[in-house]
Amino acid sequence: MSLTVRDATLDDLPAVAAIYTHYTLRTTNTVSTEVRTPRDWRERFTVNVVEGPYHLLVAVEDDAVVGFVETQRFRPKAAYDRSVELSVYVAPDLRAKGVGSALFEALFARVADDDRFHRAFSIIALPNDASIAFHERHGFVHRGTLTEASHKFGQYLDIAYYERAL
Ligand SMILES: CC(C)(COP(=O)(O)OP(=O)(O)OC[C@H]1O[C@@H](n2cnc3c(N)ncnc32)[C@H](O)[C@@H]1OP(=O)(O)O)[C@@H](O)C(=O)NCCC(=O)NCCS
Repeated sequence: MSLTVRDATLDDLPAVAAIYTHYTLRTTNTVSTEVRTPRDWRERFTVNVVEGPYHLLVAVEDDAVVGFVETQRFRPKAAYDRSVELSVYVAPDLRAKGVGSALFEALFARVADDDRFHRAFSIIALPNDASIAFHERHGFVHRGTLTEASHKFGQYLDIAYYERAL
């Protein structure tokens, strides 16, 4: 694969949305139950990235977006300013080919020297063995699991917290 990772632009949002919509509608990999509209994505991008300190990076292969990683506020209170929550999604047919790793490596290179951020958290709905292996491969440590904290497709899901120092 000749993969590149770069900052997303507004033009990338439909492709990012298509990947996330797949996981929203068909899996419990995200606990999102409602599809974000194009307007939701634009507002999120504007608030978090254009006007805020967070990131949306896309992995691109042959001009097609094949995955993305985003950072966002971990919690609303100001005391959490230095923590970010991560989300990473790869197009379903391109998983396990290094796309997620390329996204994480680019993101962590970006935030390594950025004093604004101190901790990254990923919140993983279980079961998701691939995501757990992926996060552990990238230096994340399991810090705890909330039992039956979310509910999707008629079932309760445990939610695992993974942490990485930045
Ligand atoms: C989780 C995800 C982002 C990982 O990205 P990816 O491109 O598939 O992963 P990579 O190919 O970069 O793999 C890196 C490492 O992750 C682990 N890994 C990835 N997929 C795996 C799988 N299916 N089973 C076990 N380990 C896996 C391996 O340790 C792998 O290292 P290795 O190739 O040296 O064995 C991707 O599979 C995905 O989008 N999954 C569906 C959505 C999702 O669950 N997102 C995370 C929500 S918390």
